[in-house]
Amino acid sequence: MSLKQKINANQLPQHIAIIMDGNGRWANIKGKLRVFGHQNGVRPIRKVSEAAAELGIGYVTLYAFSTENWNRPEKEVKALMELLRKTIPQELPTLMKNNIRLNAIGDLKRLPEQNYKALMDAMKETETNTGLVLTLALSYSSRWEIVEAVKKITSEIQQGNYTAEAIDEKLFGAHLSTATMPDPDLLIRTSGEWRISNYMLWQIAYSELYFTDKFWPDFGKEDLYKAILAYQNRERRFGKTSDQLTTSSNKK
Ligand code: IPE
Ligand code: IPE
Ligand code: MG
Repeated sequence: MSLKQKINANQLPQHIAIIMDGNGRWANIKGKLRVFGHQNGVRPIRKVSEAAAELGIGYVTLYAFSTENWNRPEKEVKALMELLRKTIPQELPTLMKNNIRLNAIGDLKRLPEQNYKALMDAMKETETNTGLVLTLALSYSSRWEIVEAVKKITSEIQQGNYTAEAIDEKLFGAHLSTATMPDPDLLIRTSGEWRISNYMLWQIAYSELYFTDKFWPDFGKEDLYKAILAYQNRERRFGKTSDQLTTSSNKK
């Protein structure tokens, strides 16, 4: 039985978030420049998107460039932006073929104008696709996103739309850039690092975490299947006891 066949189609994660890490180290080991690693980080994005679309997963959100990544050497930031600008239109046929809708979250206004335009064009082109929603987190950090939500809520209160008492988790979540998505069920990080690096801090409250030593350029469909199988072997208790979960009436 292949790994794919072992996956229980009735217990798929609805939303998978991925911290794509290790491009630079992957290249360095090969005696190449870091940018070579980033170039080789595109193929796994295609593979993972295809695999997720084939399985019928609703949402995949990829951490592609963090707020903190703006502090990298100018040359690397420039190379990453160039790669992004070229890759987006190149990947359009794959997105269309797989019925994938492209989406983006983050401080997109900080992106170079041409990148912003390439992104908006591709999002427009794919907006009627009904399959997987593939979100790129670009110029994104969770603390930035939370602060933005606080600003929006404060301004709505000042305008008299509602009072501070009306703030609850639902209202807060609705002011995040992920408002239209369910929280990630599964968070994957590659490259052997065990940290979150400012990614979806609010949304991953109950996500299952999966870490792999593989560097992102080596990550493929089989690795995604492995992560999903690991997820399907976890017991998600949401604070309850294991016994409560086996009593079907108490199942979350
Ligand atoms: C992930 O790979 C891609 C981005 C953060 C843009 P890195 O560039 O972080 O590669 P490592 O972690 O230095 O190997
Ligand atoms: C996290 O990777 C950001 C992205 C994958 C885009 P980093 O490589 O920037 O994270 P740290 O600095 O190792 O925590
Ligand atoms: Mg890294």
